[in-house]
Amino acid sequence: MAVDLTGKVIIITGVSSGIGAATAVECARAGMDLVINARREDRLKRVAESVKGLGRRAAIVTGDVTEAGISERMLDAAEKEFGSFHSVFANAGYGMTKQVLDNTDEQLRRMFDVNFFAGVELLRAAGRRLLRSGRSGHLLMCSSCLSKFALPNHGAYSATKAAQNSICSAMRHELKSHGIDVSSVHPITTTTEFFKVSASVSECDPTNADLPKHSPRMFVQPPERVARAVVRCLRRPCSEVWTSHIVRTVAGAMTAFPRFYDWSIARAAPPD
Ligand SMILES: NC(=O)c1ccc[n+]([C@@H]2O[C@H](COP(=O)([O-])OP(=O)(O)OC[C@H]3O[C@@H](n4cnc5c(N)ncnc54)[C@H](OP(=O)(O)O)[C@@H]3O)[C@@H](O)[C@H]2O)c1
Repeated sequence: MAVDLTGKVIIITGVSSGIGAATAVECARAGMDLVINARREDRLKRVAESVKGLGRRAAIVTGDVTEAGISERMLDAAEKEFGSFHSVFANAGYGMTKQVLDNTDEQLRRMFDVNFFAGVELLRAAGRRLLRSGRSGHLLMCSSCLSKFALPNHGAYSATKAAQNSICSAMRHELKSHGIDVSSVHPITTTTEFFKVSASVSECDPTNADLPKHSPRMFVQPPERVARAVVRCLRRPCSEVWTSHIVRTVAGAMTAFPRFYDWSIARAAPPD
């Protein structure tokens, strides 16, 4: 039976743009109240207004996801404002375009801190509270199709996404008997600020920011498509959220046949 989302509360990170902003609005449309997080407060206020326009409420917790104690602050905000929470979506993240040997240690660690450790901390903190209170719930993390096949020049990013995928798979089985679902989300190229941020972090050719424009249209999607898929998964929990059957199939084939992966990458995405 589908989960009735009306009046349920979700905590989402990375809501100041892209997939997070679209998902917040889609959750409100589904009847949910929200706690929303990112560093840019003016953007969060705009999303909160959209949520309000849909007849729901959004509490804002501004800050960097790597700040000490921020996960607990988001969970406290949900319990204070709304009494409890049903789900969390650890979505905040960014990309970087650099060969692995060119990454500094600091860049590698920062990327794992934001993309992996901060999300894991939020899921763990939320999972513990759900277990303590005996409530069911749903924990989601925004991974990527690149969790299944790494791209040259995106090694560090792909590694963080693969780590997210692995930890969600393990947690799914650890928490299932407690009525807590765990899902990983695997978007393909999505038209957000992601590519602009990635080009700026990587101090590389800003034309990289236009990547979605140069990709075949069938492999590019708007953030609203991911948002709708996330809400479908909240209603009917599934292990992995995919928005492209083709990419999902190719990713499966690459995992099963490493020589197919090597052949495809050499043809389609040779390193610079
Ligand atoms: N776009 C794609 O093609 C694509 C494909 C697969 C997976 N994804 C994943 O989708 C997720 C969302 O990305 P997007 O495409 O929506 O990109 P985006 O438009 O750049 O949004 C990223 C969001 O994360 C927030 N964020 C980044 N670093 C943060 C930090 N240290 N603390 C708090 N918030 C932080 C940003 O907010 P502030 O800057 O205001 O803090 C922003 O709201 C990411 O995990 C990304 O890896 C994206």
